[in-house]
Amino acid sequence: WQLARPLLGACAFTLLATAALMGHVLLRDFTMVPRELAGLSQGLEEAYQARSQGPQHSREHSDRPGPVPAQCDVPPNSRFDCAPEAAITQEQCEARGCCYIPVRQGPQGPPVGQPWCFFPPSYPSYRLENLTTTQMGYTATLTRATPTFFPKDILTLQLEVLMETESRLHFMIKDPANRRYEVPLETPRVLRRALTPLYSLEFSQEPFGMVVRRKLDGCVLLNTTVAPLFFTDQFLQLSTTLPTPYVVGLAEHLSPLMLNTNWTRITLWNRDMAPEPGTNLYGSHPFYLALEDGGSAHGVFLLNSNAMDVVLQPSPALSWRTTGGILDMYVFLGPEPKSVVQQYLAVIGHPSMPPYWALGFHLCRWGYSSTAIVRQVVENMTRANFPLDVQWNDLDYMDARRDFTFNKHGFEDFPAMVQELHQGGRHYVMIVDPAISSSGPAGSYRPYDEGLRRGVFITNDTGQPLIGKVWPGASAFPDFTNPETQSWWQDMVAEFHAQVPFDGMWIDMNEPSNFVKGSEAGCPDNELENPPYVPGGLVGTALGSRGLGPSSGQRGHWMGLSALCPPAPPRALVMARGTRPFVISRSTFASHGRYAGHWTGDVWSSWEQLALSVPATLLFNLLGVPLVGADICGFLGNTSEELCVRWTQLGAFYPFMRNHNDLSSLPQEPYSFSETAQEAMRKAFALRYVLLPHLYTLFHRAHVRGETVARPLFLEFPQDPHTWTVDRQLLWGEALLITPVLEAGKTKVTGYFPAGTWYNLQTVPVEALGSLPPPPSTPLTSVIRSQGQWVKLPAPLDTINLHLRAGYIIPLQGPGLTTTESRKQPMALVVALSPSGEAQGELFWDDGESLGVLERGSYTLVVFLAKNNTVVNKLVHVASEGASLQLRKVTILGVATAPRQVLSNGVPVSNFTYSPDTKILDVPVSLSVGEEFLISWT
Ligand SMILES: *[C@@H]1O[C@H](CO)[C@@H](O)[C@H](O)[C@H]1NC(C)=O
Ligand SMILES: *[C@@H]1O[C@H](CO)[C@@H](O)[C@H](O)[C@H]1NC(C)=O
Ligand SMILES: *[C@@H]1O[C@H](CO)[C@@H](O)[C@H](O)[C@H]1NC(C)=O
Ligand SMILES: *[C@@H]1O[C@H](CO)[C@@H](O)[C@H](O)[C@H]1NC(C)=O
Ligand SMILES: *[C@@H]1O[C@H](CO)[C@@H](O)[C@H](O)[C@H]1NC(C)=O
Ligand SMILES: *[C@@H]1O[C@H](CO)[C@@H](O)[C@H](O)[C@H]1NC(C)=O
Repeated sequence: WQLARPLLGACAFTLLATAALMGHVLLRDFTMVPRELAGLSQGLEEAYQARSQGPQHSREHSDRPGPVPAQCDVPPNSRFDCAPEAAITQEQCEARGCCYIPVRQGPQGPPVGQPWCFFPPSYPSYRLENLTTTQMGYTATLTRATPTFFPKDILTLQLEVLMETESRLHFMIKDPANRRYEVPLETPRVLRRALTPLYSLEFSQEPFGMVVRRKLDGCVLLNTTVAPLFFTDQFLQLSTTLPTPYVVGLAEHLSPLMLNTNWTRITLWNRDMAPEPGTNLYGSHPFYLALEDGGSAHGVFLLNSNAMDVVLQPSPALSWRTTGGILDMYVFLGPEPKSVVQQYLAVIGHPSMPPYWALGFHLCRWGYSSTAIVRQVVENMTRANFPLDVQWNDLDYMDARRDFTFNKHGFEDFPAMVQELHQGGRHYVMIVDPAISSSGPAGSYRPYDEGLRRGVFITNDTGQPLIGKVWPGASAFPDFTNPETQSWWQDMVAEFHAQVPFDGMWIDMNEPSNFVKGSEAGCPDNELENPPYVPGGLVGTALGSRGLGPSSGQRGHWMGLSALCPPAPPRALVMARGTRPFVISRSTFASHGRYAGHWTGDVWSSWEQLALSVPATLLFNLLGVPLVGADICGFLGNTSEELCVRWTQLGAFYPFMRNHNDLSSLPQEPYSFSETAQEAMRKAFALRYVLLPHLYTLFHRAHVRGETVARPLFLEFPQDPHTWTVDRQLLWGEALLITPVLEAGKTKVTGYFPAGTWYNLQTVPVEALGSLPPPPSTPLTSVIRSQGQWVKLPAPLDTINLHLRAGYIIPLQGPGLTTTESRKQPMALVVALSPSGEAQGELFWDDGESLGVLERGSYTLVVFLAKNNTVVNKLVHVASEGASLQLRKVTILGVATAPRQVLSNGVPVSNFTYSPDTKILDVPVSLSVGEEFLISWT
């Protein structure tokens, strides 16, 4: 990616282009006259002149067979596909009224994906009529005179524009005559339009189009006039220009964080697919965030859960192509990328607060075939001095792989095993698949019998339960859009919990996955199963392959949203346990984070997938699902020792940390490796456990403010374009930069350090807090003073680089083998002084599992501040759990001169230490986090 860009970006250019075209496009600015246009500087004019004669406007069609009508003279990168559903001939293309120019494909020629058949600018679209101002914005009618080449055009549409907040625009295009499917997501209702929005709107009458502009700099964020609007029964397309090629989002895919706009088609349709590049995976999140010149950002969300494609092209532009529902769009104005995420989460919902134990280490594998084996695992972990908070089981515990059962050959004392885990301060989670075995004789399996009786299953055309095939064999699928299903599920969970006191649920196969196509009776032959447009990744298979098919029961619109029913498992857990629910799910849809976390599915034990787990973790954080991680050491295939060490080091910084292994792979529990490898892993575990209070505080902020936990560098440093593509490092919150080794055989790693001071956290002597291993023997540079540069760091096998940003304070706590233990350890503060000697931080603390702690005030929130040679705490709120937290040490980084005296609450501290080499001041204290203190040095 070429980062050196002209001073004036695409935005300045489109601003001028509008001015030039105002004459012949009907352009109405209903919110303000584009005053920016009046004050065009000389510089802009010159830039425009240069641009308009620039290479992107030269007409070069070396491959074209013959003369082309003038209206087909569209620059190659700006051509919008007039044959999205199939390859067609020149005759067929021209019969559609489109332009046909074959392009050479392949490595030398233009990229694969550039259309041969494309729309001329005059191609008929909708016409805007009856534009009316409303309380919230505008309404209008859109009419189309000429049908398109897809069946069942809806020729009259209703446009509704809602100016909901200063930074949020919402618009919908619907069929006024017939109610079409809308995603049943509760979104905020606003009654009055924003008075001083950050955006202005312009409408083009014919062809219909909408322009959304950032008022501040005139940047055109959306221009839907660029290609015709399609609104047919099963094919809806809305295209727009993009002001930038830097686009992130549109999950779930195995890819770098920054998407490629060089003719990329991204398919969204939840399916059970081991992650590989270029195809749709388990979840759908039709949201993107785009980074504009100068570091502003905006976001766009299409609230639609049908199978869809999103096409990115280099002009740059984007086309949404969905196979049903309505066009329900949100535009978020930022302008900071952080605000875009918050504005998106204000619509889909903030992530829920996990229990504290959920942030500890989780261990699982398919093949722990008895309670005896599980007990051995726990014992082996403990003997090797590895933390273990949550023990899991895969299918092994079940009787004939049926939900809500356990087998009597190996798991006969299952309840006792779970109780023992609890006695050891641990928690227990098991797999639950949504499909319910249907094969036994009536009366033999209560979940099915009861489900049948209560009518909770998805039915087929003859009104009988649709029967597919999943792990237990023939299975029925609960329809979670039915309230009765929720209550049936709650009963099943509660009844099972009464036998086995499990603590959380792992929901797998909920795309939903199905081993037969459609159902055991096949797929019905109807329009839903055979849409005129099949989203790209699915061509050659059908929509129903390894799924249920669009027509099953829920009228073709179910996705993770209704399939998994994200609200059902956590609700059932709350009913059964009365505490904060813990659910991890494979399938997800926008809003998932409100209910559950996510793991990235069946990843391979490969270096490639280790590296791609960083962008996956970052992306789900931007999508409001911060509790996310990949299976540490990989799920499919055998890991190597080195890969597993590096993966454990990175995994210690996944917000959700689980090692999980396949049935047939070599063991990969931490204790299965050499002593050298174990030693390296222990250090990574210790770092995670020491940092848990900070991680928990970040989850609190995500919950109350819609922030991210793990975040890409560009979220903190949007004005430094070098950060935009960094996806091999991650930040925890604002302050902690993690630079993992993601390649084999390396003892050095290069990371990007945005301008500022970064302290190496591993030089901080925190061992006094507990059983932390001593600082690494390799001397590590303690401070990086960066101008915004790449830095090569030592990274021996036992080291993951961890840097604390100057200006921040983080709380630490002594580690333990469980969070039950670590939560009782004393705390410490690490204060990373800025060059002006200041820093700040925060701690959120509560009992770690109760519901409604914020409402009841049963929490502690303390702010830490450093300036002018002092560190103080400010008590925002203190409850009993926090009052008893002991503070034993304050480590201050970046103390320029040796202090003569250190005082804690006015009392001299005799045994402080200071190193003139590292500039670290270490102050042993005996304080309470929940009582005001003042530490000072002179
Ligand atoms: C787009 O892809 C083509 C070939 O597939 C390549 O020649 C070109 O450099 C790419 N452009 C960008 C901006 O990556
Ligand atoms: C929007 O796109 C149309 C079609 O390409 C173009 O004529 C118009 O100038 C654009 N408007 C703005 C504000 O960029
Ligand atoms: C636990 O450790 C023992 C002794 O090393 C080993 O024989 C056993 O296989 C281990 N069990 C598991 C489940 O890893
Ligand atoms: C509906 O499902 C039942 C099994 O529940 C099956 O016997 C029947 O053939 C299916 N009907 C259709 C039309 O597929
Ligand atoms: C800094 O602290 C010293 C005493 O320790 C005090 O005299 C001085 O006024 C303080 N400066 C500021 C700006 O608070
Ligand atoms: C520092 O001194 C205090 C008071 O004399 C004592 O209680 C504490 O244990 C000492 N801490 C260390 C780390 O030496």
